[in-house]
Amino acid sequence: MKVSSVSDLLQSSLFLQEVAVKGWVRTFRSNRFIALNDGSTINNIQCVVDFENTDEAVLKRISTGAAVSIKGTLVESQGRGQKVEIQVLEIEILGDSNPDEYPIQPKRHTLEFLRENAHLRVRTNTFSAVMRVRSALSFAVHKYFQENGFNYVNTPIITGSDAEGAGEMFRVSTFEPNEAPLTEDGKVDFSQDFFGKETNLTVSGQLEAETYAMALGKVYTFGPTFRAENSNTTRHLAEFWMIEPEVAFMDLDGNMDLSEDFIKSVLSYVLENCKDDLAFLDQRLTQEEKSKPQAERSEMSLLEKLHFVVDNNFKRVSYTEAIDILRNSKPNKKKKFQFPINEWGADLQSEHERFLVEKHFKCPVILFDYPASIKAFYMRLNEDGKTVRAMDVLFPGIGEIVGGSQREERLDVLKEKIETMGIDEKELWWYLDLRKYGTAVHSGFGLGFERLVQFATGMNNIRDVIPFPRTPQNAEF
Ligand code: 4AD
Ligand code: MG
Repeated sequence: MKVSSVSDLLQSSLFLQEVAVKGWVRTFRSNRFIALNDGSTINNIQCVVDFENTDEAVLKRISTGAAVSIKGTLVESQGRGQKVEIQVLEIEILGDSNPDEYPIQPKRHTLEFLRENAHLRVRTNTFSAVMRVRSALSFAVHKYFQENGFNYVNTPIITGSDAEGAGEMFRVSTFEPNEAPLTEDGKVDFSQDFFGKETNLTVSGQLEAETYAMALGKVYTFGPTFRAENSNTTRHLAEFWMIEPEVAFMDLDGNMDLSEDFIKSVLSYVLENCKDDLAFLDQRLTQEEKSKPQAERSEMSLLEKLHFVVDNNFKRVSYTEAIDILRNSKPNKKKKFQFPINEWGADLQSEHERFLVEKHFKCPVILFDYPASIKAFYMRLNEDGKTVRAMDVLFPGIGEIVGGSQREERLDVLKEKIETMGIDEKELWWYLDLRKYGTAVHSGFGLGFERLVQFATGMNNIRDVIPFPRTPQNAEF
């Protein structure tokens, strides 16, 4: 007999038909009502056990967490809250779950507790909803790019270059820590290592993606990215997924348009296709907000925020304008910022970004034309000689969700930049080749996938939107 998904059964009206379903018991009450979930939807199907005709030994084994196989008749439900239910004819326990030991009891658990049980937390409503939305968002990402003429490229995970010049990388080596061969001047001799040079886990696929954009025109990456920055925040992971489109013949304005259209498109997709999960997450967030002091509560519910972003234009503001706004802002004058804004050229901290988005403009903001000195070497220098064609998309509650730029396509300017930033030109010979052979204006950006999932689900901590988070001091599972 065909096993149906709970999701299909809940929408079915094949009443009085015999159906089969497999899943896990969420709750079992009155020796009669099983709330069964199989992961296909946030909703459970109620399965009514005929306890008088069911073996007592079997009844005892129906407990929260147990895997069961059920055959029964689909009927219209008498109870409230559901349209259909299954009258059980046959139940088989596939896998027991000892109720005295099973950590995921049918009650409210803290997110901290669930993080420690990350292998089981997806069995809760919250995490199953988050992970289904995450999956739908991944699909929406591919759908958007594939429907708009982009080619998916897989850039290397092990690289010899530091794309962001930030130096916060995880080394890849086969040397034994204390037995690495040394050169004459006592440094580790990486020429004898596996790749014959120093290598690390990639911080971005951008540089390699650029090579492909300069032949395929429009490309995107969507893969794991690694940063060894020791920042224990609710927005940083050591291992995260990044989406990086790169487009030939596109300038910064086109890049801003692309980022805005892309984000709106994928959020619209989940609004349309994850209704039940988002309704649940909306409720969850509203509950969570109630525990905060009035002043810190969000004015909008999750669904309102998502619709707001999809329906409104992002505000485009230059770095210079933003600095003026920040310098004259109340928190700056009252010395409320941890990092006061005094001068043009200051790097913006998350507190400043959030002020601009949440307090000043009250909508997503695209900041552009940043000082060259605070941005990566590959960004195109403006005519003023001091700013670069960079852009960051800033989101409420999240801060920076996208970082991108128009790339420096002029060989001489790029070489000079590489030199002043103290980067070894030889390491980038292949990147410079792009500027020697058929160079052209091109642009792209990187979107942190987990930050997008955070925004879409309303989860406050980035550790709660990736199955097994990797953060400083934590690589369990
Ligand atoms: O701004 P970033 O560093 O930009 C780049 O890496 C460029 N190469 C992208 C490009 O132009 N192709 O990172 C891009 C985005 C950030 O805006 C943020 O959303 C996310 O990646 N991100 C992180 N997400 C989670 N944990 C971290 N440690 C992150 N670091 C960056
Ligand atoms: Mg950035």
